[in-house]
Amino acid sequence: MSNLLIDAARLLGRIHTLGTIGRNEEGRLVRLAASDTEKLGRDQFVAWLQDAGLEVAVDRIGNIFGIWRHSGSVEQAPLLIGSHIDTVINAGIYDGCYGVLSGLEVVETLKASGFAPTRPIAIAAFTNEEGVRYAPDMMGSLVHSGGLPTEDALATVGTDGSVLGEELTRIGYSGAEEPGFLKPHAYVELHVEQGPVLEREGVPIGAVENLQGISWQRMTIDGVANHAGTTPMSMRRDAGHAAARVISFLRDRAMASSTSTVATVGCIAFEPNAINVIPSRATFTVDLRDPDAERLRAEEAALAAFLQELAAAEGVTISTERLARFEPVTFDARIVEIIEQAAVRRGLASKRMTSGAGHDAQMIARIAPAAMIFVPSVGGISHNPLEYTPDDDLIAGANVLLDVVKSLASAG
Ligand code: GLV
Ligand code: MN
Ligand code: MN
Repeated sequence: MSNLLIDAARLLGRIHTLGTIGRNEEGRLVRLAASDTEKLGRDQFVAWLQDAGLEVAVDRIGNIFGIWRHSGSVEQAPLLIGSHIDTVINAGIYDGCYGVLSGLEVVETLKASGFAPTRPIAIAAFTNEEGVRYAPDMMGSLVHSGGLPTEDALATVGTDGSVLGEELTRIGYSGAEEPGFLKPHAYVELHVEQGPVLEREGVPIGAVENLQGISWQRMTIDGVANHAGTTPMSMRRDAGHAAARVISFLRDRAMASSTSTVATVGCIAFEPNAINVIPSRATFTVDLRDPDAERLRAEEAALAAFLQELAAAEGVTISTERLARFEPVTFDARIVEIIEQAAVRRGLASKRMTSGAGHDAQMIARIAPAAMIFVPSVGGISHNPLEYTPDDDLIAGANVLLDVVKSLASAG
């Protein structure tokens, strides 16, 4: 493998520039999918793709592709490098953006070096990976891989009542290409770990061999509004209390299990939401994850049984709506090995690991061999403005990606 290096200053400069785009009045980074702020991020990314001399293509779900078709490689299925540039609310600057911008950096480095790939190399920024505004998450890559019809995805109503398809048209990213038009030969995604493992073990590179299953539901509990001062505790049908019991049930069960189940209630709203009124309605989300498919199913079943008992015990009614359901994914063993070998050649320790977060790679693995490279996240913090990876680790990860891409675009 060559000693070719990415342009670290260019990569870091772009990560920081993109990190300034989409900040609100309080300085918080909020680039939700298909929003006005995300449009600005998309425009900047497209400008960088054009500056790099890449062909830019946008599909009907708003996925953006920068494609390098080297003469002699055009007949082959492309190697795809991807991630996302939408963010959560009050995000850090690395989640997703690091992978997309490293993909661009790798392609620019390879182009400038005179490298002749045997197949086109494309970089993707997939729409709505975070799933904060529209569920399910990883939507653009899911549609790309044929797991969700384009029209259904475009009709998705967001948390703010907007319709994704209308928003994509409004911001100018309802593209002409049919989703899935680009059939990858293989897919690689570089990402910050977003967890504590690599930092704790002092290992700079994660060779990600699998990714846990994800179950998202929205629950609505209906009770009866009544006076907070006059209603005896025994006569209440308190939707708020019932919601609190679900939160405790999930946490107690996950804490007590010796397995790696994780459970989160990240959104909750009460109605009428008044200090002196017993809540008549509680609406909240449940995010359940486990790397083992059977265990994830068992946790969902345990939750469903608890909801039945709870409804009877508290005199409330409970309805559930599925927002996302993805099975655990095992990545391609050969690409994982290529990642490990690339790390060795760069003199970097690596570790095989499981991804706790959802990623576009999980969706593209349905249609092509895929794997991921992780770099450490300081303190394991992510989905938070304190998300941070030291520059040296970012650069090391991008150089490993460079070598992996070179290897996958050299093979027949
Ligand atoms: C994506 O960031 C997820 O894992 O929720
Ligand atoms: Mn991400
Ligand atoms: Mn994320």
